[in-house]
Order: sequence, then C-alpha cells, then structure tokens
Amino acid sequence: MNVSNEKVEFVNSANKVVGRITFESVTVARRVLTSQQTDERYTPPDLIAQVRRFMGRITLDPASSPEAQRIVQADHFFTKDNDGLSLPWNVSDPTTVFLNPPYNTLKQGKSTASIWAQKLLTEWQRGHVQEACLLVYAAFGYKWFNDLYKNLTSVVFEERLRFVNPDGTSDGQAKKASALFYLGPRRLAFTKEFCSRGFTRVEYPKLQIRQ
Ligand SMILES: C[S@@+](CC[C@H](N)C(=O)[O-])C[C@H]1O[C@@H](n2cnc3c(N)ncnc32)[C@H](O)[C@@H]1O
Repeated sequence: MNVSNEKVEFVNSANKVVGRITFESVTVARRVLTSQQTDERYTPPDLIAQVRRFMGRITLDPASSPEAQRIVQADHFFTKDNDGLSLPWNVSDPTTVFLNPPYNTLKQGKSTASIWAQKLLTEWQRGHVQEACLLVYAAFGYKWFNDLYKNLTSVVFEERLRFVNPDGTSDGQAKKASALFYLGPRRLAFTKEFCSRGFTRVEYPKLQIRQ
C-alpha cells in the first residue's frame, strides 16, 4: 500500500495501480453551528441494528459519545475527550468498526469526514481493523468522496436518513443523502444486506490495498 498523508493507492495482482483515494484539502466555508449542523447527530437505530446484524457485533465506535452509545452499543468507543483520531483502533481481535464521523468542523483545511475516512483506511492498512462500515453524507463532486466511491463497496441510501438528537428526538429527514461504505472481505454479502435500502456498488473483487 502506498500511504502518505494525502493518498491511498489500490493495486491489482500485477502490482498496477488501479485505484487511488486522494485526501486533498476541501474548502468549505466555516459555518455558525445550528442544531442542524451539530456533531451530535446520531445514526438511526434501525440502521445501527442492521449494521450490527451484518457484522455480528460492533467492537469499536471511534467517533462517539455516551449518549450515542445508548443506540450504537459498541464494545468500545472513543469520544472528543480521548480523541479517536489520535488513538490506535486495534481494541479487539477482530476489530469491527462502525464510523459515523463528525462532519461540521474543519481541520487543517480539510473536511472532517475526509480526515476520519483517511484515519479508517490507515488503521485498516495497519491491520488494526478487520471489517468496517463508514457512514458519511453522499458528497458527490468532492474528490475525497468520489475516490471512496470509486474504490470501495457502498450503498447510497435512497431515503435521506433521520438522524437522532441526544435527547432521542429527530429533526426529520436530513437535507442530504447519505452513503455507507464497506471495508472487509464480505463485499457481496454487504450489497445483499443493504441493496433494499438504495443503490449498491461492489468494488472490483481482485482489488487489494497495496502492502
Ligand atoms: C455524527 S456523531 C456519531 C455518533 C455515533 N457514532 C453514531 O453513529 O450515532 C459524531 C460523534 O463524534 C464525537 N466526536 C467528535 N470529535 C471526536 C473525536 N476527536 N474523537 C472521538 N469522538 C469525537 C461527537 O461528540 C459525536 O458524538
């Protein structure tokens, strides 16, 4: 695998680079926080239940809070206080991750979702993660999202999701569509599990992350 701070490459069996994810800077204006834009927007319980059923269990939720854990119920979770971006993710063997990253803030000029996606891929490449589902807004047109979409198995949800507030209420459907990406050996099973929810795409089965 060719990993730099900015790039992850995929190669085929002839060691030819056939895919590339580039985490270039994404310029997004800083916004005033509103209730629609807070980080504390939790995954709908029915989707968490489906992810948990598919992976068997969620052993790590690396971007979370005690309130979110009422729904996610991961074996381990990280919060703002201990910072999941700076910790290793090999909390169990195997480690199965569900990641719905914070998305309203920017760090180092990059969108937060792209930084968390890059952290997931780095932990995957280190062998710290065996299976993962990554939930982000379907940000088509942004290079980091396009690259994830081109290289990973995914479902883009037909219905906009109803995220949950910390008090258990929901503000209704999100303004944008969401996508769930899969990292792991059961790509076809993933699309079978989630195809009824939207538009699935399987990465080419021979693709491997360059070691
Ligand atoms: C979009 S919410 C998702 C929560 C939960 N994982 C879920 O799917 O319902 C993102 C969560 O990440 C937390 N968070 C923000 N910065 C973090 C950090 N550096 N490390 C770990 N968690 C963080 C937020 O407090 C928030 O609870």
